[in-house]
Amino acid sequence: MGRDGSGGGALKSARWFEGDDVPAFVHRTALRAEGFATADFEGRPVVGICNSWSELINCNVHFRALANSVRRGVLQAGGLPLEFPTMALGEQLMKPTTMLYRNLMAMDVEESIRSYPLDAVVLVAGCDKTVPAQLLGAASADVPAIMLTGGPATPGVFRGREIGVGTDLWEYTDDLRAGRMSREEYDQLEAASGPSAGHCPEMGTASTMAAVVEGLGMTLPGAAAAPAVDARRYQVAAAVGRRAVELASEVVRPSQILTPAAFDNAIAVLLAAGGSTNAVIHLLALAGRCGVELDLDRFDQLSRRVPLLADVRPSGQHLVEQLFHAGGVPALMKELEPLLEREALTVTGKTVGGNLADVQRSSDRSVIATLEQPVKPPEGLVVVRGSLAPGGAVIKASAADPDLLVHRGPAVVFDGIDDVIARIDDPELEVSADSVLVLRGCGPVGAPGMPEWGAVPIPQKLLEQGVRDMVRVSDARMSGTAYGAVALHVAPEGVLAGPLAAVRSGDLISLDVPNRRLDLEVPAAEIETRLAGWTPPPRRFERGYGALFLDHVTQADEGCDFDFLRGRSADPADEPYGVLHGMIGGW
Ligand code: FES
Repeated sequence: MGRDGSGGGALKSARWFEGDDVPAFVHRTALRAEGFATADFEGRPVVGICNSWSELINCNVHFRALANSVRRGVLQAGGLPLEFPTMALGEQLMKPTTMLYRNLMAMDVEESIRSYPLDAVVLVAGCDKTVPAQLLGAASADVPAIMLTGGPATPGVFRGREIGVGTDLWEYTDDLRAGRMSREEYDQLEAASGPSAGHCPEMGTASTMAAVVEGLGMTLPGAAAAPAVDARRYQVAAAVGRRAVELASEVVRPSQILTPAAFDNAIAVLLAAGGSTNAVIHLLALAGRCGVELDLDRFDQLSRRVPLLADVRPSGQHLVEQLFHAGGVPALMKELEPLLEREALTVTGKTVGGNLADVQRSSDRSVIATLEQPVKPPEGLVVVRGSLAPGGAVIKASAADPDLLVHRGPAVVFDGIDDVIARIDDPELEVSADSVLVLRGCGPVGAPGMPEWGAVPIPQKLLEQGVRDMVRVSDARMSGTAYGAVALHVAPEGVLAGPLAAVRSGDLISLDVPNRRLDLEVPAAEIETRLAGWTPPPRRFERGYGALFLDHVTQADEGCDFDFLRGRSADPADEPYGVLHGMIGGW
């Protein structure tokens, strides 16, 4: 295939490397200086390997080896692989929250793809925010792209049982706080919790986003669930590299893949997998980049149709590794097929229906159930609205105590996470199992960055009484590995004078999931009076990226993207010749 467009269209990189003028000379020299001979790049599509490897992310620490397999595939197919780093967002080490930086990483990815001579790009990502950040950037750059996620980590084993990284930690931490576990046992849990690279092995946000990527059609079928240490992940990586070369030639862009039908399929996979509430935010942001009309109500509409099919923690029993052995996301989608948009195009070049044609149904019904006999009925992830959440809030009902899904109780209000830490285990705290724990000041602007603080811990004195779940309401997010009757992402958030700011301890709050309501049982006029007299907290950042974030982040119901990042960017290859070939700095 040549740069003249034979095989599908003109390659973007031809604008850099072809010609007899000085800029083309300089561009070619840049590659020669790296040791490439003309034959290494002449006539070959340039495939970027966008790698979020970092020693600051244990989940991604195998990505150099994974990228080498991608490189092998690109070379096999006749392309030129050029790897480049991106910002990396380590869920466990980065403070205050990776969500503060998702959009910054997305900008890094978008501008790197946009401004370099890349004909296609392989997005290598694995931890919670690296996947959506790379997707957002690639969607806006709109250069042919395919994603390779990192795969779930090998599960640890504790007390003879395979454990996830988050879900089991939250349970055992409650045991420790309730006096049911010793400090020594807790230390043993810590030692057992992280035996390998790879993302969290339950259906947390990273596993969810990997499945969602497959649902969107942005990776090869089967790529989501192969374990990080399994040889088959490296085989998939090479296949992704080969396919990227073909995508460059065919010029299949994300805008052709990321259609309304693709979003519906991704949401269906999210719901059938019992996936993370965080995926709701990321998909809303991605839709905004793609010009696709998507709002919270679409999630709720699909939730009424799609049951839980994957019996994976935190909504079920197993880990993602078992899902892989039961057939992975292709087998899950095979069960879902009657509810999917089968005509949606994917990066394979086939439609979803075409991809599923040869997929076998799972033979392990203990992990992947059928539509006729699901693990749990539909409505596992719902959107509630009402006087406390006019812009909506999200509840993962499949991971909550069913008895709490219709509940009315007095509020116990916390202003920010420091207030929780200071008071939650205070024996004098006026709280009962019927109370509704309200955490505010933790939304996109408030915290800022909307950390995963929404699953407020159960007060110690209630844990000791055997209470394991309570209704909680917050403008924060929660970990995809977490569970409970938690109304999250309340919009508008408290610090923007949303109704959450008007709640006082003792006010009655009612949650009615079947009727999709979340209400503060205080007269509207009183809420208005309280908000009129309310003073917002001081702004947290006055300079740098933090100030940019505060000025431009949207609310959770719009995906927390920056308002100026919606839509796509112009491709330099489409710009006037003089712009691209203008003399570069230093010449
Ligand atoms: Fe990286 Fe969970 S901490 S995937």
